[in-house]
Amino acid sequence: MLTPEQRAIVKSTVPLLESGGEALTTHFYKIMLAEHPEVRPFFNQAHQANGDQPRALANGVLMYARHIDKLEQLGGLVSQIINKHVSLQIEAAHYPIVGACLLRAIREVLGAEIATDAVIAAWGAAYGQLADILIGAEEKIYADVAAAPGGWRGARAFRVARKEVESSEITSFYLQPQDGGALIDFQPGQYIGLRLVVNGNEIRRNYSLSAAPNGVDYRISVKREAGGVASNYLHDQVQPGDVLDLFPPAGDFVLAASDKPLVLISGGVGITPTLAMLDAALQGRRPVHFIHCARNRHVHAFRHAIDARLAKHPQLKRFYAYDEHSGPEDVPHAVGRLSPLQLAQWLPASRDVDAYFLGPKPFMREVKQQLRDLGVPEAQTRYEFFGPASALE
Ligand SMILES: Cc1cc2nc3c(=O)[nH]c(=O)nc-3n(C[C@H](O)[C@H](O)[C@H](O)COP(=O)(O)OP(=O)(O)OC[C@H]3O[C@@H](n4cnc5c(N)ncnc54)[C@H](O)[C@@H]3O)c2cc1C
Ligand code: HEM
Repeated sequence: MLTPEQRAIVKSTVPLLESGGEALTTHFYKIMLAEHPEVRPFFNQAHQANGDQPRALANGVLMYARHIDKLEQLGGLVSQIINKHVSLQIEAAHYPIVGACLLRAIREVLGAEIATDAVIAAWGAAYGQLADILIGAEEKIYADVAAAPGGWRGARAFRVARKEVESSEITSFYLQPQDGGALIDFQPGQYIGLRLVVNGNEIRRNYSLSAAPNGVDYRISVKREAGGVASNYLHDQVQPGDVLDLFPPAGDFVLAASDKPLVLISGGVGITPTLAMLDAALQGRRPVHFIHCARNRHVHAFRHAIDARLAKHPQLKRFYAYDEHSGPEDVPHAVGRLSPLQLAQWLPASRDVDAYFLGPKPFMREVKQQLRDLGVPEAQTRYEFFGPASALE
């Protein structure tokens, strides 16, 4: 339990962490990944290399320290962390490893003069408090999902029922439980965790579920990333009949219940969760504006699947923008980057809409700004990252 003095020490170190927070977590990861090979498979090396994950953790620690008196104000951040942890099956036993490495990093980066025994003890207690909150919440989700019909805990073997090429760089995988048992439903927008062994190394990755729940199979749609370990392995090595280890669906980027017009905006492979959302929304009557941006028609996935829904669902409008002109056939609705003018024309006349968006980070930054400028209430816009969350401002 944190004493009032320790609480004060933690709060007083916030400015220090704000100036040196990222260096601290970078150092922390270096120590942990070198000395604890057992946690290496959880961490995506690309997220370490581009700094996103150290930044996300630094931000998490800072937000926590800032709100230590009113932890309930952390709301969204805690839910985001819990969902990411659950999707990768982080266990209570991992927390002491992270805690010990974090305290050691604080000591080594700040130096013994600033990081006194009292400071370390205060942070130790604070870390313990946060860890208890996360462990408790994560354990509850593990237990609930395991107890639900079709649910499970840890890895479950799924057979690749089929593979379908969706574009020159995106391929879908239809996955069915190998045990033939029931399959827990998920909320449109959620993602699964995938455990792979590639060249003898275990890795874990998240993939959004790209079709609405049907009780039979899950579909993921994977973009081949240049130099990417998991995506190239899936595209090149994994064939129908092969078996993959899946962790249950998680994620808080989900379609909230609402009758307002729905606007789904995606760039590239960011389309995947919006597909599940689209099909869920089309079961009702709310208007749906589906806006998708791709580099060109060759990389544009799911165009025919979306177009095929138009006849059956008059409440659906769809708009495509391509960066590059793609020739006379298969023309998009606009060429060039999504502009504010274009978006204004493609949104419903009333800006009282629910908007969900996902794509490359620069694209998301622009979409966020444009929605704000066009008068869509900020509380009605939601987004997800295909990696650690980061600021979009
Ligand atoms: C919630 C969520 C949902 C997602 N949904 C989807 C989805 O539906 N579809 C989809 O395709 N993806 C999705 N992703 C992304 C997916 O999890 C993987 O990150 C993606 O497939 C790339 O993984 P990879 O192993 O192929 O590439 P990685 O091996 O992780 O590499 C990614 C890039 O970083 C570079 N790189 C790797 N290591 C280093 C290094 N040490 N230094 C410098 N550069 C490096 C690689 O060359 C490559 O360009 C999602 C991610 C999240 C978090
Ligand atoms: C109090 C302790 C912890 C805090 C505050 C914390 C915080 C965070 C934050 C902020 C993120 C980014 C979430 C996002 O994607 O937006 C994250 C992701 C993650 N955390 Fe934790 N975490 C803690 C403990 C742990 C532990 C014990 C492990 C297990 C080894 C762990 C493993 C991970 C992994 C693997 C990711 C995803 C990394 C990636 O995307 O590359 N975390 N955590």
